[in-house]
Amino acid sequence: MANKIKKIGVLTSGGDAPGMNAAIRAVVRACKYYKIDCVGIYRGYQGLMEGDFEELNARSVRNIINKGGTFLKSARSMDFKTKEGRKRGYEQLTKNNIDALVLIGGDGTFTGGVYFSQEFDLPIVGIPATIDNDISGTDFTLGYDTALNTAIDAIDKIRDTASSHNRLFFIEVMGRDAGDIAFNSGIGAGAEEILVPEETDGLQRLIESLKRSREAGKLSSIIVVAEGEKSGKNIFELAEYVGSHMEGYDIRVSVLGHTQRGGSPSCFDRVLASKLGVGAVEALLEGDSKIMIGLNHQKVVRVPLKDAIDGEAKYDKELRRVANITSV
Ligand code: F6P
Repeated sequence: MANKIKKIGVLTSGGDAPGMNAAIRAVVRACKYYKIDCVGIYRGYQGLMEGDFEELNARSVRNIINKGGTFLKSARSMDFKTKEGRKRGYEQLTKNNIDALVLIGGDGTFTGGVYFSQEFDLPIVGIPATIDNDISGTDFTLGYDTALNTAIDAIDKIRDTASSHNRLFFIEVMGRDAGDIAFNSGIGAGAEEILVPEETDGLQRLIESLKRSREAGKLSSIIVVAEGEKSGKNIFELAEYVGSHMEGYDIRVSVLGHTQRGGSPSCFDRVLASKLGVGAVEALLEGDSKIMIGLNHQKVVRVPLKDAIDGEAKYDKELRRVANITSV
């Protein structure tokens, strides 16, 4: 492995996601394996601009593979969106002899990375981590699998009440622009209807589904709604709308919110984090830059960082088809 890189900086940025700690651990351990130094950068880009750094060794990351959140902390930095902020970040890196960066985060993190790498000559590799799974070029992002399992567990519990009381439950799951959590938790938990940001006919479909389920004699129902769903109504307004247009429903709303972001990562997320962390360090040592390490059909792949944020959305029509068939 051609190796000009002696010290790698690693940061987590944007919304935290289960598996971020496991990814930091893998980066640090891969650095140790390849005999290079690793520096943890606290609070994402904010800490980068402020020089909030700490040398990490293999033991610094013990006992974290099973922990949710990120021990390096995370932030959504406004300052780093400015050229001046990014310059300050670069100066901190050169001052600390850091000659490559691993960015663990989602689209905002990668957008910052793309600007940074256009302005400064510093190798950068991204690791996709967001519960939304809204990054192109990778089948999965870190935290998504865990968030799905958290959501499905919560919906299963709500189903007990829905069925005991013959109620109609509206359950909001996360996903500003992507319906992956809603679709998959909805299908997995047997929801009556699923509303996602990628579709515009949600409200109409919802009313039709409810009419159908009433005719079929269903007494309770679960409707899963992604937070970024496009009916123009928030979940409480949606529930009110149904209540005022269809008689006889005992309706409740439950917003799962940030419970989906926390918790111990699933085995899948821990293994994925380990693969991507090792892959990121190896890519840098092989001279690669401006890429994301992702997973495509079980294989670790390198994708241009720009494509990860500009690529096509992953909306899967098959999920809609399956959801329609299994909710009859
Ligand atoms: O991007 C992950 C995500 O959890 C989205 O699903 C959600 O819309 C957003 O972050 C919430 O962000 P915050 O924690 O900053 O309110």
